[in-house]
Amino acid sequence: MGMAAPAPLLPADPDPSFAELLAGRPHLSLHAQDGLTMEEVPLAAIARQVGTPTWVYSAGTLRRRYQALHAALADTGAEIHFAVKSNPNLAVVRTLAEQGAGADIVSEGEMRLALAAGIKADHIVFSGVGKTLNELRFALSRGIGQINAESAEELGMISAVAQELGVTAPVALRVNPDVDPKTHAKITTGKSENKFGIPIAEAPSLYGLAATLPGLRPLGVAVHIGSQITSGMSAYATAYQALAELVRLLRARGLTVERVDCGGGLGIPYRDEPAPNPAALAGAIRTALGKLEVKLMVEPGRWISGPAGVLLASVILQKHTGTRRFMILDAAMNDLVRPAMYEAWHGILPVAPADYVAPVSPCDVVGPVCETGDTFARNRGLPPMKPGSLVAFLDAGAYGAAMSSTYNSRPLAAEVLVDGTRFAVVRERQTQEALLAGQHLPDWLSTP
Ligand code: LLP
Repeated sequence: MGMAAPAPLLPADPDPSFAELLAGRPHLSLHAQDGLTMEEVPLAAIARQVGTPTWVYSAGTLRRRYQALHAALADTGAEIHFAVKSNPNLAVVRTLAEQGAGADIVSEGEMRLALAAGIKADHIVFSGVGKTLNELRFALSRGIGQINAESAEELGMISAVAQELGVTAPVALRVNPDVDPKTHAKITTGKSENKFGIPIAEAPSLYGLAATLPGLRPLGVAVHIGSQITSGMSAYATAYQALAELVRLLRARGLTVERVDCGGGLGIPYRDEPAPNPAALAGAIRTALGKLEVKLMVEPGRWISGPAGVLLASVILQKHTGTRRFMILDAAMNDLVRPAMYEAWHGILPVAPADYVAPVSPCDVVGPVCETGDTFARNRGLPPMKPGSLVAFLDAGAYGAAMSSTYNSRPLAAEVLVDGTRFAVVRERQTQEALLAGQHLPDWLSTP
């Protein structure tokens, strides 16, 4: 009989320490005087000038990550189309456009933003399971580079709009390979029960149909199996293998296939997940698709923009109830919805140097919104913090500001871009007046 194991003194899976969180994020550093600093700009200086809550993005990180991905993919020749939905800030997209990025878009609004950021229309791919006729008209009239069609019905709509405009629509078929990327159910897209894509078994006949419909030019096939994929490369490898077989089958039937769009989804470590890296993605692409002589494309969002951003917030107050300590911030689920929506874990770092030496104890970090779901973290180790103290939510550059709302009539937060020693407000905080603008009382109500 073995000895009984001693009772654990520490939680089985303790959260990373402040030092560990900092170590993995080279654009953030801690200074004895200035506290938490992004590139060369103290976050406290941004909070003083712009207020909180504020999203802050590191231009250097956006460039570095784009270039790292570009370098990893270089020998595949894959073009990078940044998934604008992850961060539709004009200055962020412009920063990436300057590096050579194209765009993956899902609406007219995103296409207008990509064009305004200087991305050429032929470097834009239109994804999404339901594009309206007006969106298709807009995209085709501006010369979009590729539309990823997701059904026979949609092929019919694209054909009709192309004929109406007298243009030829460049289309790819987004197929659903029925693989499980083992990510959160709400962001899994490549399983057969998901709404996305064309079942791979139906793809050959639809590709044949696309080749006969007037106004369509089928260019290739596309896949996107899910987001925040951290389970290794096997789901990607399976999906890409299936795509390769499809390409060979289509070619054997005499159909032309020039492009394969490999989608996005590469995960990042929010806590301490062993996230796959671009070299692994490049390897999976190369192995399955490298010899097909097609133009390859990827559509990453989070991997590029996620780590580049923080959400800066202030403590409104701390309160104690029974055994729990609540830290109530001026940011809420309407700003950063990921914890409420996906049980997502985001690192939280204090900004003031003194808060790094004070003893930490567990607390629940929450926003002021009137829902229990407005909880950013439970039992997070943080020091006692006075009203006005600053904290930064890490890895908030993807699906952060992008998913904000004005729930509880809270204005949208400001957005700031940091570049070396410089910073600029790249999106103004929404004003209280703007929140009310556009609302009208009908004439049968009395004037207040
Ligand atoms: N391509 C398509 C067709 C997509 O639907 C998506 C993301 C991407 C590319 C980019 O995926 P990424 O590389 O960023 O994983 N709001 C969720 C994530 C939703 C992802 C939606 N589609 C979150 O906060 O985790």
